[in-house]
Amino acid sequence: MKETTLNIKFTEYDHINELNVNDAQLIQSAEENLKNAYAPYSLFKVSSAIQLNNAKMVLGTNQENAAYPSGLCAERVAIFSAKSTYPTANVETVVIVTAQENSTPFSPCGGCRQVLMEYELTQKKPIRVILKSGNSKIWIFNSVKDLLPFAFDADDILKKE
Ligand code: THU
Repeated sequence: MKETTLNIKFTEYDHINELNVNDAQLIQSAEENLKNAYAPYSLFKVSSAIQLNNAKMVLGTNQENAAYPSGLCAERVAIFSAKSTYPTANVETVVIVTAQENSTPFSPCGGCRQVLMEYELTQKKPIRVILKSGNSKIWIFNSVKDLLPFAFDADDILKKE
């Protein structure tokens, strides 16, 4: 028998002005776009801003539906849009913000972590994830792996020639 402990690392910042200009601008863009969230059922507005390595930024917000499961989370809207428009670009940073006030940021859902992981694995470069809720502290993860340890890897199912 062997017990193992995993270490998960993230950095906490008290205020946006402690961040570098690029990260601060990305958060600001995501927050400005919160108004475009379509969340009439949960009233929980979420917005995401994605920085690509081709200098493009792509935004997304949660889009709900009267048939609840048909809606989609903000970060998935953003990353699917980014990869649909710029399929060869690498994702450098994903910002996810909510309007909801909290002392700590909200945590992205498991399905979205899996989707972010797909692109981190295929681009073979870590994706930074930045989280903030209202005026909360800011959490920065340097890799999706820190949010989704033991992730399912497509390499496990892809047939090798
Ligand atoms: N939501 C997101 O946009 N991202 C997440 O990671 C978690 C939840 C949205 C989905 C739904 O529109 C609302 O928040 C409440 O669950």
